[in-house]
Amino acid sequence: MKFYLCILALSLEACFAAPGLDPAFDDHWQLWKTWHGKEYHEKEEGWRRMIWEKNLKMIELHNLDHSLGKHSYTLGMNQFGDMTNEEFSQVMNGFRFTETERKYTGSLFLEPNFSEAPKSVDWREKGYVTPVKTQAHCGSCWAFSATGSLEGQHFRKTGKLVSLSEQNLMDCSWPEGNEGCHGGDTIAAFQYLKRNGGIDSEDSYPYIAKDRLECLYKPEYKAANETGFVRIPSGHEKALMKAVAAVGPISVSIDAHHHNFRFYKSGIFYEPTCSTWNLTHAVLAVGYGFEGAEKDNKKYWIVKNSWNKTWGDNGYILMAKDRNNHCGIATRASYPLV
Ligand SMILES: *[C@@H]1O[C@H](CO)[C@@H](O)[C@H](O)[C@H]1NC(C)=O
Ligand SMILES: *[C@@H]1O[C@H](CO)[C@@H](O)[C@H](O)[C@H]1NC(C)=O
Ligand SMILES: *[C@@H]1O[C@H](CO)[C@@H](O)[C@H](O)[C@H]1NC(C)=O
Repeated sequence: MKFYLCILALSLEACFAAPGLDPAFDDHWQLWKTWHGKEYHEKEEGWRRMIWEKNLKMIELHNLDHSLGKHSYTLGMNQFGDMTNEEFSQVMNGFRFTETERKYTGSLFLEPNFSEAPKSVDWREKGYVTPVKTQAHCGSCWAFSATGSLEGQHFRKTGKLVSLSEQNLMDCSWPEGNEGCHGGDTIAAFQYLKRNGGIDSEDSYPYIAKDRLECLYKPEYKAANETGFVRIPSGHEKALMKAVAAVGPISVSIDAHHHNFRFYKSGIFYEPTCSTWNLTHAVLAVGYGFEGAEKDNKKYWIVKNSWNKTWGDNGYILMAKDRNNHCGIATRASYPLV
C-alpha cells in the first residue's frame, strides 16, 4: 500500500510526508475537510491526514469498547481531528490560576436551607443559557465561563437573556492577571467586572479570538452589572449541586487534558485518570441529572463548553457527578452577583 501511494505521489516530499495513508478514507477526508472548512498547504496535508486517521482509529476503538460495555460515553470525530495532543492543549486549555487566587475578595457560598435539592435541574429549559459559542484557536475559555454565569444571573434578575462580551473581559482584565488568548481565570474576570461595574454586550463588543492590549469598553453599551461574586466551598459537589439548583448556571473549571475529552460525543464522561486539582479548562455547569435509575454512577452534571455546537453533544457534555469530584468540577466553582 505504501509503495502504491509513493508511485502516485507527485513529489518525493509528499511521499515521505504521507506514509501509510489508508485510501479507503479518501472520500471521508475530503468530506471532513469541506464540512469543517479546512484548507492546507500541499506539504501540510499529508501529515494532517495522518494525525486525522490516527484519531479516527482511536475513536473507532473507543466506541467498539463502549459497545462492549467498557465505557459510559462515546467519542466522535470533530473539528479537532487534525491536531496533535500537544497542539490541542496549547490552543484550547486556557485556564490558569492567577495571583488573584490569594487575594480574592468574593464571599463564600452559604448553602440554602432546602430540605432536599431537586434531583435534576436544567437551566437551558428556563431561558438562562445563550446558544453555544466558539472560542476558536484561543485559550479564552475562562472568559466564556464567566460570561455564561453572568448571562444566567442577569436573566434571573431582569428576565432578559443578553449575550455578553468575552472580548471585553479579554481586553480589559490584564490588570487582574488574565492573559487573553494565553489563559486566564474566571474569578479574576469577576474581579475585573466588579472593578468596572459591568460588561458590554456581545453585539457591541464582538469576539475576535485574538489578544488586544487596548480596552475598548464603553459604558453606554453596558449590558449587565456585576457587584461581586461568590465561591462555592472547594471540592464539595453537594454544595455545588445546591448552588446550581438555587442560583442558576455556575462557572466551573475542570481537568480536560485527557484526549478523550477532545472527542467526547455522548453519554456520561468518566475517565479514571482525570485529576481533581490539575484544572486546565473553564466551562459552565447549567444543570444536573441522572440516567436510568438513580444509581450513584449514573448521575451527571450538564456542562456547556465553548467549542462550538460541532463538539460533543451539540456543544455540551455530561460529566460524572458525585464520584469524588470527578475531573475537579467542584474544585473551583463560582458565580457573579448582579
Ligand atoms: C439555615 O438554617 C440554619 C438553622 O436554622 C441557620 O443557622 C442558617 O443560617 C440557615 N442558612 C441560610 C443560608 O439561611
Ligand atoms: C445596572 O445597575 C443600575 C443601578 O442599579 C441600573 O440603573 C442599570 O439599569 C443596570 N444596568 C443593566 C444593564 O442592568
Ligand atoms: C496537568 O495538565 C497539563 C495540561 O494538560 C498536563 O500537561 C500535565 O501533564 C498535567 N499534570 C499532571 C501532574 O497530571
